[in-house]
Amino acid sequence: MLDDVLEGLSGRQKTLPSRLLYDARGSDLFEDITALPEYYPTRTETAILNAAAPDLSRRIGEGAVLVEYGAGASVKTRILLDALEGLAGYVPIDVSDDMLAKTKPLLQQDYPELPIHPVVGNFLVPPPLPDIDPRARRVGFFPGSTIGNLDDADIETFLNGAAEELGPDGLLVLGVDLKKSPDILIPAYDDAQGVTADFNRNLLVRINRELGADFNLDAFRHEARWNEAESRMEMHLVSLADQSVTIGGRRFDFAAGETIHTENSRKFDLDELDAVLAAGAWSREATYTDPGQLFSVLLLGRA
Ligand code: AVJ
Repeated sequence: MLDDVLEGLSGRQKTLPSRLLYDARGSDLFEDITALPEYYPTRTETAILNAAAPDLSRRIGEGAVLVEYGAGASVKTRILLDALEGLAGYVPIDVSDDMLAKTKPLLQQDYPELPIHPVVGNFLVPPPLPDIDPRARRVGFFPGSTIGNLDDADIETFLNGAAEELGPDGLLVLGVDLKKSPDILIPAYDDAQGVTADFNRNLLVRINRELGADFNLDAFRHEARWNEAESRMEMHLVSLADQSVTIGGRRFDFAAGETIHTENSRKFDLDELDAVLAAGAWSREATYTDPGQLFSVLLLGRA
């Protein structure tokens, strides 16, 4: 983590890796974000999944193993666990050991027959799957448009890794946020209650705590930007003054107005996404969306 932080702050545009947003406090704040009136993705994706569940169940068939990339609290997963018939297993993959340990008993209570095999790991480098029936069809689940946090190279790495791991008759259920007006996007990433601002600034709280840095939390403000050329929402932390910060014995200078770029959240056009999917060995078999075309859930098969 120290190396990643030092490297990110050493560039001309300072950056911090968005995965560092999710410590315990950050994960709680993200859960709060998903319930905000301005944050349409979670509620919209949930509605799409509920409506698509019977069709997904028919296409997937009986006895599959569900593998979730970045499972978190496995909330949306329950829609699939309820709809899919005779599941042979559920493999939640997450970087947070704590989260996996906390979620497993809650899931097991509600799905007593379901074999649950949590795996700790970063889904970008898919960790080896536990011992599961090699004859069971493997179905990946990557909801939330988390794919939008990745650049093209990482998307290709992820998709190829998932293809390898899920096998020739593997399927992937992918949540993708769609391109839309900045009038909807900007409030979704800069809500009136300031929860997203706290989520973003918590990155500095974490770096102060875990790396002994001395960021002045009142001297940075949250900013949500729409980058039209890259079709993405960006989160930045804007320095409110000329200041310097010390981390791991190194000093970083900030000019007033200079930013740390903390997250990209890409918004996709499905026709453009098809090329990226193809490069990652997948193709769209079914597309589900909401009446407002805000978000989509894709069922991918191997190309
Ligand atoms: C869960 C990573 C997809 O990019 O919309 C929410 C995270 N960032 N508000 C997103 C997030 C700011 C979210 N992802």
